Amino acid sequence: MDEELDGLEVTACERCPKLVDSRSQIVNGTGPEDADILFVGEGPGANEDEQGEPFVGRSGSVLDDTLLVVGLERGDVRITNCVRCRPPENRDPTKSELENCRGYLEAEIDRMEPDVIVTLGKVPSEHLLGRSVSVTSAAGTVEEIRVNGTSRRVVLSVHPAATLYDRSQEDTFREALETAADLAGVDGSSSNQRRLDTF
Ligand code: URA
Repeated sequence: MDEELDGLEVTACERCPKLVDSRSQIVNGTGPEDADILFVGEGPGANEDEQGEPFVGRSGSVLDDTLLVVGLERGDVRITNCVRCRPPENRDPTKSELENCRGYLEAEIDRMEPDVIVTLGKVPSEHLLGRSVSVTSAAGTVEEIRVNGTSRRVVLSVHPAATLYDRSQEDTFREALETAADLAGVDGSSSNQRRLDTF
């Protein structure tokens, strides 16, 4: 048996030969299983592959900083990716790689039952919506999708890395996260309080 799912963790999988070759480990989602918000990125990059955690490189810093601005912190949310193994040379995952990993993502969504899913960039937005999306114009919009028969709310967002290349995307990114926090009814006061408690 080359595929194993333990709760939300994929512990073994060899469905995508090229990704098996390029990964150093499987990068599962992190964060509370009962989080109200689930962020979905594209796939692990070099830093994530090395550390075994999603969004730990520069994009992760942008995500962390913007979460703080909207009154949240990383530990309040769950963060995962469409594919759990690093594609070679950071290329986009192929259609079949995305499909091979879809069941793991859907199992994570089913089990978590998040109030809101935030798609970080074009690849996860198109993967979950099942159609082409221009994320720069659609960022911040709310869509309904069905996952295994259950309706789920999705907030579309640009990828945090977009803000590194184009500063004007910072507001777009922050506004998408604000929309998600509002929909999830998260006011950030508990994390703000935790932060104040550290001073
Ligand atoms: N970009 C992604 O889409 N996912 C990560 O985990 C890191 C960068």
